[in-house]
Amino acid sequence: MARKALIAANWKMYKTPAEAQAFVDAFLPLVASHTRDEIALFPSPVLLPTVIPACKGSKVAVGAQNIHFAEEGAYTGETSVGQLKAVGGTHTLIGHSERRQYFAETDEIVNKKLHTALKHGLVPVVCIGEVLEEREAGKTEQVLKTQVTGAFAGITAEMAASIVIAYEPVWAIGTGKTATPEMAEEAHKMIRAEVAKLLGAEIAAGMRILYGGSVKPDNVTALMAQEDIDGALVGGASLKADSFEKIVKY
Ligand code: 13P
Repeated sequence: MARKALIAANWKMYKTPAEAQAFVDAFLPLVASHTRDEIALFPSPVLLPTVIPACKGSKVAVGAQNIHFAEEGAYTGETSVGQLKAVGGTHTLIGHSERRQYFAETDEIVNKKLHTALKHGLVPVVCIGEVLEEREAGKTEQVLKTQVTGAFAGITAEMAASIVIAYEPVWAIGTGKTATPEMAEEAHKMIRAEVAKLLGAEIAAGMRILYGGSVKPDNVTALMAQEDIDGALVGGASLKADSFEKIVKY
Protein backbone atom coordinates (compact mmCIF):
# COMPACT_ATOMS: atom_id res chain seq x y z
CA MET A 1 0.00 0.00 0.00
CA ALA A 2 1.42 3.40 -0.94
CA ARG A 3 1.83 5.67 2.04
CA LYS A 4 1.91 9.42 1.43
CA ALA A 5 4.91 10.82 3.25
CA LEU A 6 4.47 13.47 5.94
CA ILE A 7 7.26 15.95 6.59
CA ALA A 8 6.63 17.77 9.85
CA ALA A 9 8.28 20.63 11.70
CA ASN A 10 8.36 20.56 15.49
CA TRP A 11 9.35 24.09 16.48
CA LYS A 12 9.46 23.22 20.18
CA MET A 13 9.65 26.39 22.34
CA TYR A 14 11.09 28.61 19.63
CA LYS A 15 9.86 31.66 17.68
CA THR A 16 7.80 34.73 18.47
CA PRO A 17 4.62 35.44 16.48
CA ALA A 18 6.58 37.84 14.26
CA GLU A 19 9.24 35.19 13.61
CA ALA A 20 6.59 32.57 12.91
CA GLN A 21 4.87 34.91 10.45
CA ALA A 22 8.18 35.59 8.71
CA PHE A 23 8.82 31.84 8.43
CA VAL A 24 5.43 31.19 6.82
CA ASP A 25 5.79 34.18 4.48
CA ALA A 26 9.12 32.79 3.28
CA PHE A 27 8.23 29.10 3.32
CA LEU A 28 4.84 28.92 1.56
CA PRO A 29 6.06 30.27 -1.80
CA LEU A 30 8.96 27.78 -1.68
CA VAL A 31 6.61 24.80 -1.43
CA ALA A 32 3.54 26.14 -3.25
CA SER A 33 3.98 23.79 -6.20
CA HIS A 34 5.30 20.86 -4.17
CA THR A 35 2.47 18.36 -3.91
CA ARG A 36 4.32 15.06 -3.45
CA ASP A 37 4.12 14.86 0.34
CA GLU A 38 2.07 16.27 3.17
CA ILE A 39 3.64 19.06 5.21
CA ALA A 40 2.74 20.02 8.77
CA LEU A 41 3.98 22.63 11.24
CA PHE A 42 3.81 22.15 15.01
CA PRO A 43 4.34 25.55 16.71
CA SER A 44 3.83 26.54 20.35
CA PRO A 45 0.19 27.21 21.28
CA VAL A 46 0.61 31.00 21.39
CA LEU A 47 1.80 30.92 17.77
CA LEU A 48 -1.21 29.01 16.46
CA PRO A 49 -3.42 32.11 15.92
CA THR A 50 -0.61 33.52 13.77
CA VAL A 51 0.46 30.40 11.88
CA ILE A 52 -2.94 28.85 11.14
CA PRO A 53 -4.45 31.89 9.35
CA ALA A 54 -1.12 32.45 7.59
CA CYS A 55 -1.22 28.88 6.20
CA LYS A 56 -4.87 29.02 5.20
CA GLY A 57 -5.38 28.17 1.54
CA SER A 58 -2.01 26.40 1.37
CA LYS A 59 -1.44 22.66 1.67
CA VAL A 60 0.52 23.12 4.90
CA ALA A 61 -1.30 21.71 7.93
CA VAL A 62 -0.84 23.09 11.42
CA GLY A 63 -1.10 21.31 14.74
CA ALA A 64 -0.22 21.45 18.41
CA GLN A 65 2.83 19.99 20.14
CA ASN A 66 0.67 18.72 22.98
CA ILE A 67 -2.95 18.46 24.08
CA HIS A 68 -4.61 17.55 27.34
CA PHE A 69 -6.75 14.42 27.46
CA ALA A 70 -9.61 16.16 29.29
CA GLU A 71 -12.26 18.01 27.31
CA GLU A 72 -11.88 21.04 29.61
CA GLY A 73 -11.27 21.70 33.26
CA ALA A 74 -9.00 23.07 35.95
CA TYR A 75 -5.68 22.17 34.30
CA THR A 76 -3.57 25.30 34.53
CA GLY A 77 -1.20 25.74 31.63
CA GLU A 78 -2.76 23.08 29.42
CA THR A 79 -4.54 23.24 26.04
CA SER A 80 -7.69 21.30 25.21
CA VAL A 81 -8.55 19.71 21.90
CA GLY A 82 -11.60 21.96 21.67
CA GLN A 83 -9.38 25.02 22.01
CA LEU A 84 -6.99 23.70 19.38
CA LYS A 85 -9.80 22.94 16.95
CA ALA A 86 -11.44 26.33 17.55
CA VAL A 87 -8.32 28.08 16.23
CA GLY A 88 -8.16 25.70 13.27
CA GLY A 89 -5.57 23.13 14.34
CA THR A 90 -5.93 19.73 12.66
CA HIS A 91 -2.98 17.70 14.00
CA THR A 92 -1.27 17.10 17.30
CA LEU A 93 1.93 15.53 18.54
CA ILE A 94 1.38 13.16 21.44
CA GLY A 95 3.98 11.83 23.85
CA HIS A 96 7.05 13.58 22.47
CA SER A 97 10.10 12.35 24.36
CA GLU A 98 10.57 15.82 25.86
CA ARG A 99 7.06 15.55 27.29
CA ARG A 100 7.89 12.11 28.62
CA GLN A 101 11.27 13.20 30.00
CA TYR A 102 10.50 16.63 31.49
CA PHE A 103 6.74 16.50 32.10
CA ALA A 104 6.38 12.92 33.30
CA GLU A 105 4.13 11.72 30.51
CA THR A 106 3.61 7.99 30.72
CA ASP A 107 2.30 5.51 28.18
CA GLU A 108 -1.01 5.66 30.04
CA ILE A 109 -1.27 9.43 29.57
CA VAL A 110 -0.23 9.08 25.93
CA ASN A 111 -3.02 6.54 25.50
CA LYS A 112 -5.63 8.86 27.03
CA LYS A 113 -4.50 11.71 24.80
CA LEU A 114 -4.66 9.49 21.74
CA HIS A 115 -8.25 8.54 22.54
CA THR A 116 -9.19 12.21 22.97
CA ALA A 117 -7.48 13.26 19.74
CA LEU A 118 -9.20 10.52 17.73
CA LYS A 119 -12.58 11.24 19.27
CA HIS A 120 -12.30 14.81 18.00
CA GLY A 121 -10.96 13.94 14.56
CA LEU A 122 -7.43 15.28 14.97
CA VAL A 123 -4.54 13.59 13.19
CA PRO A 124 -2.37 12.31 16.05
CA VAL A 125 1.38 11.86 15.70
CA VAL A 126 2.31 9.48 18.51
CA CYS A 127 5.98 9.77 19.42
CA ILE A 128 7.99 6.83 20.71
CA GLY A 129 11.67 6.00 21.03
CA GLU A 130 14.31 4.53 23.28
CA VAL A 131 16.92 6.36 25.36
CA LEU A 132 20.62 5.63 24.94
CA GLU A 133 20.90 3.32 27.96
CA GLU A 134 18.03 1.22 26.63
CA ARG A 135 19.64 0.91 23.20
CA GLU A 136 23.01 0.04 24.70
CA ALA A 137 21.38 -2.58 26.92
CA GLY A 138 19.78 -4.22 23.86
CA LYS A 139 16.30 -3.23 24.99
CA THR A 140 15.21 -1.16 22.00
CA GLU A 141 12.69 -3.67 20.67
CA GLN A 142 11.17 -4.24 24.09
CA VAL A 143 10.86 -0.49 24.76
CA LEU A 144 9.23 0.19 21.39
CA LYS A 145 6.79 -2.69 21.89
CA THR A 146 5.83 -1.44 25.34
CA GLN A 147 5.34 2.11 24.07
CA VAL A 148 3.23 1.03 21.08
CA THR A 149 1.13 -1.36 23.15
CA GLY A 150 0.64 1.25 25.86
CA ALA A 151 -0.27 4.03 23.44
CA PHE A 152 -2.72 1.83 21.52
CA ALA A 153 -4.64 0.33 24.46
CA GLY A 154 -8.33 0.26 23.56
CA ILE A 155 -7.64 1.48 20.00
CA THR A 156 -9.38 -0.62 17.34
CA ALA A 157 -8.57 -1.01 13.66
CA GLU A 158 -11.69 1.05 12.85
CA MET A 159 -10.32 3.99 14.88
CA ALA A 160 -6.73 3.80 13.74
CA ALA A 161 -6.69 4.95 10.12
CA SER A 162 -5.46 8.50 10.80
CA ILE A 163 -2.80 7.61 13.38
CA VAL A 164 0.80 8.51 12.55
CA ILE A 165 3.74 7.23 14.59
CA ALA A 166 7.02 9.12 14.95
CA TYR A 167 10.04 7.05 15.92
CA GLU A 168 12.47 9.37 17.63
CA PRO A 169 15.42 7.68 19.30
CA VAL A 170 15.99 10.02 22.24
CA TRP A 171 19.79 9.87 21.86
CA ALA A 172 19.46 11.32 18.34
CA ILE A 173 17.32 14.34 19.27
CA GLY A 174 19.16 17.62 19.12
CA THR A 175 22.50 15.84 19.37
CA GLY A 176 23.49 15.78 15.72
CA LYS A 177 23.71 11.99 16.04
CA THR A 178 21.24 10.59 13.55
CA ALA A 179 20.36 6.94 13.55
CA THR A 180 21.83 5.46 10.40
CA PRO A 181 19.17 4.76 7.77
CA GLU A 182 19.63 1.04 8.48
CA MET A 183 19.18 1.47 12.25
CA ALA A 184 16.08 3.58 11.72
CA GLU A 185 14.66 1.12 9.20
CA GLU A 186 15.19 -1.76 11.63
CA ALA A 187 13.26 0.09 14.35
CA HIS A 188 10.50 1.11 11.93
CA LYS A 189 10.08 -2.53 10.87
CA MET A 190 9.76 -3.59 14.51
CA ILE A 191 7.16 -0.89 15.12
CA ARG A 192 5.15 -1.86 12.05
CA ALA A 193 5.25 -5.51 13.10
CA GLU A 194 3.93 -4.57 16.53
CA VAL A 195 1.13 -2.48 15.01
CA ALA A 196 0.26 -5.47 12.79
CA LYS A 197 -0.03 -7.68 15.87
CA LEU A 198 -2.32 -5.20 17.59
CA LEU A 199 -4.41 -3.87 14.71
CA GLY A 200 -3.89 -6.22 11.79
CA ALA A 201 -1.69 -6.29 8.70
CA GLU A 202 -3.77 -3.88 6.66
CA ILE A 203 -3.73 -1.06 9.22
CA ALA A 204 -0.01 -1.64 9.81
CA ALA A 205 0.74 -1.48 6.09
CA GLY A 206 -1.08 1.84 5.78
CA MET A 207 0.25 3.49 8.93
CA ARG A 208 2.81 6.21 8.43
CA ILE A 209 5.90 5.94 10.60
CA LEU A 210 8.05 9.07 10.62
CA TYR A 211 11.67 9.25 11.71
CA GLY A 212 12.85 12.07 13.96
CA GLY A 213 16.21 12.90 15.50
CA SER A 214 18.72 15.26 13.87
CA VAL A 215 17.11 15.09 10.43
CA LYS A 216 18.95 17.57 8.20
CA PRO A 217 18.94 18.49 4.50
CA ASP A 218 22.01 16.29 4.00
CA ASN A 219 20.72 13.10 5.61
CA VAL A 220 17.01 13.15 4.80
CA THR A 221 17.31 11.54 1.36
CA ALA A 222 19.02 8.40 2.66
CA LEU A 223 16.50 8.10 5.49
CA MET A 224 13.52 8.54 3.16
CA ALA A 225 14.91 5.87 0.81
CA GLN A 226 14.16 3.23 3.46
CA GLU A 227 11.07 1.15 2.82
CA ASP A 228 9.44 1.74 6.21
CA ILE A 229 10.34 5.40 6.72
CA ASP A 230 7.32 7.43 5.68
CA GLY A 231 8.36 10.92 6.62
CA ALA A 232 10.29 13.00 9.09
CA LEU A 233 9.64 14.94 12.28
CA VAL A 234 12.20 17.70 12.28
CA GLY A 235 13.29 19.92 15.15
CA GLY A 236 16.29 22.22 14.73
CA ALA A 237 16.50 22.03 10.94
CA SER A 238 12.83 23.05 10.57
CA LEU A 239 13.31 26.49 12.11
CA LYS A 240 14.62 28.12 8.94
CA ALA A 241 12.44 28.21 5.84
CA ASP A 242 15.22 27.36 3.39
CA SER A 243 16.49 24.44 5.47
CA PHE A 244 13.01 22.99 5.97
CA GLU A 245 12.29 23.50 2.26
CA LYS A 246 15.33 21.36 1.42
CA ILE A 247 14.09 18.65 3.75
CA VAL A 248 10.58 18.76 2.33
CA LYS A 249 12.02 18.43 -1.19
CA TYR A 250 14.46 15.62 -0.29
P1 13P B 1 16.03 17.60 16.19
O1 13P B 1 15.67 17.49 14.72
O2 13P B 1 16.41 18.97 16.61
O3 13P B 1 16.99 16.52 16.59
O4 13P B 1 14.66 17.29 16.99
C1 13P B 1 13.95 16.14 16.69
C2 13P B 1 12.64 16.19 17.39
O5 13P B 1 12.57 16.07 18.60
C3 13P B 1 11.45 16.43 16.57
O6 13P B 1 10.29 16.19 17.30
